Amino acid sequence: MNAENFPGFVRKLSEFGYCGANVTLPYKEKALALCDSTTELATRLGAVNTLWFEGPCLRGDNTDVGGFLANLDEQAPGWDRKGGPAVVLGAGGAARAVLAGLAARKIACVTLLNRSTERALELVDEASSWGFERLAAEALDPCGRSLEKVDLLINSTSLGMAGQPKLELDLSFLPDTALVSDIVYTPLETELLKAARRRGLPTSSGLGMLLHQAAPGFEHWFGVKPEVTPQLRALIEADVRRGET
Ligand SMILES: NC(=O)c1ccc[n+]([C@@H]2O[C@H](COP(=O)([O-])OP(=O)(O)OC[C@H]3O[C@@H](n4cnc5c(N)ncnc54)[C@H](OP(=O)(O)O)[C@@H]3O)[C@@H](O)[C@H]2O)c1
Repeated sequence: MNAENFPGFVRKLSEFGYCGANVTLPYKEKALALCDSTTELATRLGAVNTLWFEGPCLRGDNTDVGGFLANLDEQAPGWDRKGGPAVVLGAGGAARAVLAGLAARKIACVTLLNRSTERALELVDEASSWGFERLAAEALDPCGRSLEKVDLLINSTSLGMAGQPKLELDLSFLPDTALVSDIVYTPLETELLKAARRRGLPTSSGLGMLLHQAAPGFEHWFGVKPEVTPQLRALIEADVRRGET
């Protein structure tokens, strides 16, 4: 699959015998443009990760937001009760979904740290009407000064993913109770999560988000909503581990 044949492939999904699909980077924006209709959330985020047919019409949704929230709720119940400041690393499609999730849970103050501050500022501009009290953008600085007084740190860059550069970020400034979440799921435990664990901080890994974002699609495709059980997680973990070796 490449950028050129993606539109043709999506338009012929049903001819190829598919009842829908999950879409990943870098095709989520392109997929939105190919849908006959999209949910309000997908339209607002400008990205689709789940495609399915309703009759001849191709529908699109963005289930990354729900997947991100369901995973945190599962791995760190009550994480949003305090509503304290959050730092989001990244300003791409996944960061946009994470930001929408934080807005839905009324997290008031969020700082985006990204390599390209221009891209982060664009996202801040876009999300300025989502209900945040304070939303700021800064450059991603390895010394980690911006992590002071932060309750929640989320990596939504591709840094630390297998085959991608390492995420260089000193966690020393994070308060002792801060929750560290990484939405990257290959490897299952990223270097960021390992560093957080070494500091004794609570962590949340990315595989659960993948599983939870997939459940609504599965329901559209096969009429059954799968439950994200420990058994299902173990099965997929084993599969990811096989790919790691
Ligand atoms: N767990 C899940 O279910 C789930 C769901 C969605 C995404 N993800 C993961 O989230 C990650 C990001 O996905 P995405 O769709 O947001 O991708 P994207 O739109 O391409 O954005 C990539 C982000 O990573 C940053 N980045 C990439 N290379 C970098 C480098 N060398 N140095 C510094 N920053 C760098 C980019 O910064 P610039 O803006 O400066 O380029 C941008 O913020 C991927 O690893 C993806 O697998 C996981």
